[in-house]
Amino acid sequence: MLPIETEADFAAWMGSIQARMEGALARHLPGAQQAPARLHQAMRYAALEGGKRVRPLLTFAAGELVGADPARLDVAACAVEMVHSYSLVHDDMPCIDDDILRRGKRTVHVEYDEATALLVGDALQTLAFQLLAEHTAAGDAATQLDMLRTLAVAAGSRGMAGGQAIDLESTGKTLSQTELEFMHVRKTGALISAAVKLGALCAGPCPAALEQYANRVGLAFQVVDDVLDTEASTATLGKTAGKDSKQGKPTYVSAMGVARARQFAEELRLGAHAALDTLGSGARTRRLRQVADFVVLRKF
Ligand code: IPE
Ligand code: IPE
Ligand code: MG
Ligand code: MG
Ligand code: MG
Repeated sequence: MLPIETEADFAAWMGSIQARMEGALARHLPGAQQAPARLHQAMRYAALEGGKRVRPLLTFAAGELVGADPARLDVAACAVEMVHSYSLVHDDMPCIDDDILRRGKRTVHVEYDEATALLVGDALQTLAFQLLAEHTAAGDAATQLDMLRTLAVAAGSRGMAGGQAIDLESTGKTLSQTELEFMHVRKTGALISAAVKLGALCAGPCPAALEQYANRVGLAFQVVDDVLDTEASTATLGKTAGKDSKQGKPTYVSAMGVARARQFAEELRLGAHAALDTLGSGARTRRLRQVADFVVLRKF
């Protein structure tokens, strides 16, 4: 575990980024009274007041490493978090995982209706790209295009949406470790990696070692999500626990058991730290190390 003083320092930083994100998202989302009000209220319901904001933490930690302008990081982090929130709304729908609880609240299709949930996802995703298009990135158009492309690839059929398709077609089957990794890297890893890359791109090109860090953290995130589904409670998670085995989802837990899945996540955590070793002094990469630790050691 982390030394106590590091934990306290990290908790304070995490709290500040979470509060900052709440404000930035609230500003960038259409107002609840703006027509069509029901859709806008549902978008705000989906994106505000909830979630760990791990992807924004990564965007800000990467941005800190490269000395990026915090105002630019706000935009990049909001864009990634909007795509993530959309992915959760659709993931919970009856045609995918059929969940009724998310972030301690009723899922969007339960609170509103299925058609609204579909549109909330559509609109959050397009708003993310609108934000990136409207705000200059590192000051040059080529970098801004790179940010747009990075998020598009991460969210699309070769990223998150593709990973979700594999998840659906694999339900009830046993996957090899290679196949499992192929799925997890896409459905969750891709967007996590994009969060890191976008943070770096706010200041310039993303260093290769940072991409390596991002890929390891991204895979570790879903391995731990699989573990928590079996080990944590619904109350702690704010989403229904124990659903993966009930629904026959192939996970790292079904493939190798909880202990080996945890061990694998730990290896990825150490690998993520190792990737940072080439990126300068410990002080510059401290936040990125702490976020990797949080991703693997979290309890929710
Ligand atoms: C849950 O993501 C879905 C996965 C990609 C595994 P998070 O655990 O980051 O969800 P929130 O944003 O904190 O609710
Ligand atoms: C979802 O994975 C990944 C997404 C792209 C949203 P899960 O289905 O395991 O996420 P949870 O457990 O419902 O949050
Ligand atoms: Mg799912
Ligand atoms: Mg799910
Ligand atoms: Mg899960």
